[in-house]
Amino acid sequence: MEQEFDVVLWGATGFTGKLVAEFLYQKYGAGERLRWAIGGRNEARLIAVRQQFAGDDADKIPIVIADSNNGAALDELVARTRVVCTTVGPYALYGSEMVRACAQAGTHYCDLTGEVPWMYRMITEHQATAEASGARIVHTCGFDSIPFDMGVYFLQREMKAKHGEFASTVSCRVVNFSGGVSGGTVESMMHMMEQVRADPTIMETLSDPYALNPQNMPRGDDTNDQTGAVYDTDFHQWTAPFVMAGVNTRVVRRSHALQGYCYGKEFRYSESTLAGDGPMGYTRASMIAGGSILMVLAGAFGPTRSLLRKIAPAPGEGPSSETIRNGSFNIEFLGKCANDPRQQIKVSVTGDRDPGYGATSKMLAETAVCLAKDELSSAGGVLTPASAMGDFLISRLCDNAGMTFSVVDSQSSQEK
Ligand SMILES: NC(=O)c1ccc[n+]([C@@H]2O[C@H](COP(=O)([O-])OP(=O)(O)OC[C@H]3O[C@@H](n4cnc5c(N)ncnc54)[C@H](OP(=O)(O)O)[C@@H]3O)[C@@H](O)[C@H]2O)c1
Repeated sequence: MEQEFDVVLWGATGFTGKLVAEFLYQKYGAGERLRWAIGGRNEARLIAVRQQFAGDDADKIPIVIADSNNGAALDELVARTRVVCTTVGPYALYGSEMVRACAQAGTHYCDLTGEVPWMYRMITEHQATAEASGARIVHTCGFDSIPFDMGVYFLQREMKAKHGEFASTVSCRVVNFSGGVSGGTVESMMHMMEQVRADPTIMETLSDPYALNPQNMPRGDDTNDQTGAVYDTDFHQWTAPFVMAGVNTRVVRRSHALQGYCYGKEFRYSESTLAGDGPMGYTRASMIAGGSILMVLAGAFGPTRSLLRKIAPAPGEGPSSETIRNGSFNIEFLGKCANDPRQQIKVSVTGDRDPGYGATSKMLAETAVCLAKDELSSAGGVLTPASAMGDFLISRLCDNAGMTFSVVDSQSSQEK
């Protein structure tokens, strides 16, 4: 039976949800090119938001009401749409029933979570159901982890075309990114720290480099993410820990597993931030590393967690429109072959706008439209952006979401 909607955006009243709604309206109109609706738990708030972004067209965009606590309402919502696109977070608090409903109904799903223990739980509980129903459940469709997961996918595609084989190691280095943070993101991080306090086994999941790989399947030789300052002889700069590596690396490794380990069993992936060369580079890398440890410690203890909550934006708040407009990101990836390390390729992934909000809202919206409209060949299951959408998503991100994927250097080192 044909569903009423292509996409329901659930959480349209939140800080990020409003940005996704604005983008969908500007890009796809009020039902002409995409049959979409906004959803949430509070009708009055949804009506007000709709008026803000759609003006005279507001009445053309339907509203669906469902609270995360009401399983029956969620079942009704998912039966009406091809795709649920959700910004209702923290996902570990409000997202589980929606994943359950989509997996059972065969409705495709995308979100913005970076909560690894929750994704682990969703995979454990719903992988078999989603495989059976055909639902594509895709987590991490924002800045974590689309540029990283799709960046590795793109690099491997170009590597194979240029050198005839896949790279066995990929090093991802964040060149720069600038933007802000929202209350919902802070709340999601704080909630995860609280869960770790309540259940120490969650720490084991967080520190497992292969936490999201299918269970009882091969893993690999990657170890823990970088914690200190390390000199990178390929990039000729000092590097520091990257704040989202704990999410992105797990997603990239799951992508590899779900694609049948096509890059080889010895495939390795690492992520860090470039900090510059010389003594200044070393100092900067050390300061970033020290700051990362302090942030984790501050989040781990009740009193400092309360303080962080007080100084951070509240749920519903986030960076200014100027910060969102002026933000950007630039990430480079270097791939090398184990058989011949001289065969290498460097690619770059860039985006306009604040990565966490301006760019993320476009990435999530295009993911939802891709799941709804494109002729994807992936089977159902709890997937990753690369394993679910591959080239289709790269095209959309380049055409509609202000992102670029390009080869910086594809020569073998002997050619130089
Ligand atoms: N991966 C990334 O790059 C990235 C970037 C941005 C955000 N995020 C994540 O996205 C999530 C949202 O962030 P945000 O800053 O937009 O949060 P937010 O402003 O606090 O918005 C949360 C949304 O959830 C809704 N909600 C809360 N409880 C609900 C319930 N019981 N039933 C139905 N809806 C409910 C809220 O509705 P009301 O208006 O009715 O309260 C609101 O629409 C967070 O988990 C954050 O970590 C990730």
